[in-house]
Amino acid sequence: MGVIETSSSSSLCLLKSNFSSHPFVVPNRTVCPFQGNQRRVIAMSSTLPVEQQVNEGQRRLTGDSFIRSHLRKLKPYQPILPFEVLSIQLGRKPEDIVKIDANENPYGPPPEVREALGQLKFPYIYPDPESRRLRAALAKDSGLESDHILVGCGADELIDLIMRCVLDPGDKIVDCPPTFTMYEFDAAVNGAAVVKVPRKSDFSLNVELIADAVEREKPKCIFLTSPNNPDGSIINDENLLKILEMPILVVLDEAYTEFSGLESRMKWVKKHDNLIVLRTFSKRAGLAGLRVGYGAFPLSIIEYLWRAKQPYNVSVAAEVAACAALQNPIYLEKVKEALIKERERLFKLLKNVPFLNPYPSYSNFILCEVTSGMDAKKLKDDLAKMGVMIRHYNNKELKGYVRVSVGKPEHTDALMECLMRLY
Ligand SMILES: Cc1ncc(COP(=O)(O)O)c(C=O)c1O
Repeated sequence: MGVIETSSSSSLCLLKSNFSSHPFVVPNRTVCPFQGNQRRVIAMSSTLPVEQQVNEGQRRLTGDSFIRSHLRKLKPYQPILPFEVLSIQLGRKPEDIVKIDANENPYGPPPEVREALGQLKFPYIYPDPESRRLRAALAKDSGLESDHILVGCGADELIDLIMRCVLDPGDKIVDCPPTFTMYEFDAAVNGAAVVKVPRKSDFSLNVELIADAVEREKPKCIFLTSPNNPDGSIINDENLLKILEMPILVVLDEAYTEFSGLESRMKWVKKHDNLIVLRTFSKRAGLAGLRVGYGAFPLSIIEYLWRAKQPYNVSVAAEVAACAALQNPIYLEKVKEALIKERERLFKLLKNVPFLNPYPSYSNFILCEVTSGMDAKKLKDDLAKMGVMIRHYNNKELKGYVRVSVGKPEHTDALMECLMRLY
């Protein structure tokens, strides 16, 4: 016998046991058919043939009919291919691929990380839901007290968590393209509308248009990125302060701030109740694969993120690795300096390529306009065939552009050698 239980207090319908034998045929009355205060249990026959159930006026439902309506329209996020899959596709060993398409840190984490991971004592115990050790280490690293800091499974998780806490269905966010596409993606997942205020031709923010949009559309929050992905430009204090004056929650994504040479704005959250600052271990510490991001929040906001987050969002391995990385600030500093130095060398070399126009960058990547009639997509594909992966964009703002992550000197050399073969 199949059983449908309903409880008026939760208005929840539970579909149990034998129904799984006809998962897509659900009688109309399973859609919470009961009213009143009593808890009711109804026994139903599961032995009826499917056709007979349909004949009896029951609806035939497909799996997607259970999906929330705004998600049925969602375009899938296009992540990059995993290294192993790429290696098979290109017919090259992973070590023979120059992977400069996802702004990863090619130096990886300090040696302490591997040691600490090798000595994990309690992998069978759930992690600390408050990531206490890591938050204490981050407080020391950033100069901001740990009660303002929350850690996530990458900055990506925190972007989604913020939206889940802030946005009601139909609320609006401001996005300033071209920028990191996860803001738009997560807004769609959370049923929010996106008000786009495009950047100026030099990729700087259009603060006047942002002010207009805030006044006209009454959005809940704005996502800003400094340095911005994909062009590497930064937001100056004057513009940031102007936006902070507006009646809007400002989420400042500083995923690449280490490469800018500027101080993080994490401590600003103590002065501005409408500011959140996000950072990550993916870039600065070469831990993209372990997924650790963190955010600085005003106390009046962080309280709700604690309530809404998944309790075990940061794994034992992720916390141990991030703590170990912070134990070697000299290594982190050296790697950062090596990448900044290489960025400057790469920029000069790209400037000499006749069909590329690189943009100066404060980050660990360089955006290039593809000129002289050369097709950006073809350029990306030609380089991939030679084992060099760079990023190309499908969207209309960046169709004629490619983005190159800064790698080790040998990665720059390999890229330049391949580019030379194309002219
Ligand atoms: C601007 C920006 N924010 C956040 C992230 C994601 O960071 P994490 O790896 O911590 O999820 C990225 C990743 O590329 C990024 O470009």
